[in-house]
Amino acid sequence: MTKLRIGIIGAGGIAQARHIPTLLKNEEVTVEAVYDLNMDAAAAAAGRFNIPKIMNSYQELFGEVEAVVICTPNKYHAEIAIAALHAGVHVLCEKPMALTSMEAESMIEASKVTGKVLSIAFHYRFMKESIAAKKAVDAGDIGNPLVVRVKALRRRKVPGWGVFTNKDLQGGGSLIDYGCHLLDLSLWLIGNPAPTEVTGTSYNALSRVPGQVNQWGAFDHIAFNVDDHVTGYIKFENGTSLLLETSWSNNIKEDVIEEVSISGDKGGLDVFPFSLNYSKHGMLFNSEAAWLPGEDDPSIPQAQNFIDACLGRAEQIVKPEEALQVTQIIEAIYESSDSGKAVAVYTENREGGLLP
Ligand SMILES: NC(=O)c1ccc[n+]([C@@H]2O[C@H](COP(=O)([O-])OP(=O)(O)OC[C@H]3O[C@@H](n4cnc5c(N)ncnc54)[C@H](O)[C@@H]3O)[C@@H](O)[C@H]2O)c1
Repeated sequence: MTKLRIGIIGAGGIAQARHIPTLLKNEEVTVEAVYDLNMDAAAAAAGRFNIPKIMNSYQELFGEVEAVVICTPNKYHAEIAIAALHAGVHVLCEKPMALTSMEAESMIEASKVTGKVLSIAFHYRFMKESIAAKKAVDAGDIGNPLVVRVKALRRRKVPGWGVFTNKDLQGGGSLIDYGCHLLDLSLWLIGNPAPTEVTGTSYNALSRVPGQVNQWGAFDHIAFNVDDHVTGYIKFENGTSLLLETSWSNNIKEDVIEEVSISGDKGGLDVFPFSLNYSKHGMLFNSEAAWLPGEDDPSIPQAQNFIDACLGRAEQIVKPEEALQVTQIIEAIYESSDSGKAVAVYTENREGGLLP
């Protein structure tokens, strides 16, 4: 069997903790080459995982592989993805898709022109609970979704490694880095209706207090210039509304709260843990799933879906137009927070068609 040759661009935390080990377990691929701006990081990853080739540039790497996983800081996602697609290489890009919706649109354009796969690593979609919730919504179990409540809250877990607190390189903080996962998941569950208006408020007061306890390593509280707590309210063209709260360092009792709950006109659901609530025979029911099929580690189906898409066996589950929508909403929340006004979301592409 000829194996799909995959390259890794950016050999830091997520490449080494998730993508490389997951790909190495898959018999249909080889991890052929690695490139990192920091040659020591590339050499460390190559040594640890027996990756045969360390490349001097991402352009050089494209000559060795059929697909890449982009694991660099957010600022470089668009540039590298577009270059890869034009070099005839399929792309799985880490989240968020890009810093801006304009960059994300250019990535989609490059994928359309080249016919190469472009997917974004929103791995929450591949969790067993998420797949169960998608089945229930698509089967009409909750009717038409009306209100979506999303919480992605961590207590004092600002990522202390990498460049997560650097706005130039990451585009923002808790919302673009963490909230994006549950925002993407909830949009997918309700069928990605077009957003029309967004209101948001972002804060970075928590992390600027000197001497704060942080469970995920030290960071410079003076240089910290990204959001650590964000609220948002999103209206969609079909009348659905979504309430979002996300934080890296919230003063909450719990270590982490991750909630997506949807109220429809027939029933409702919670994703984590997965439960359905509905009325039947004049009675009200709450039913928690006793068992769900699938992998405990969502990295495995995420990688498999990308491989299947590259080999032409399946469509990618995370479509780039859907990831663009996440970026549009994040951009609008930040804009609304800066301006203090509601922001109308631009949902037309350059040819005048609706996105997605
Ligand atoms: N899906 C998830 O849950 C998840 C979790 C963590 C990180 N991420 C995403 O993965 C990406 C990387 O995060 P990380 O935690 O691995 O960060 P990291 O800092 O640990 O690693 C990033 C690596 O990229 C390298 N790099 C920087 N600029 C580069 C460039 N222009 N070309 C090539 N290499 C470059 C750095 O030297 C570093 O080794 C970010 O986009 C982040 O949002 C996703």
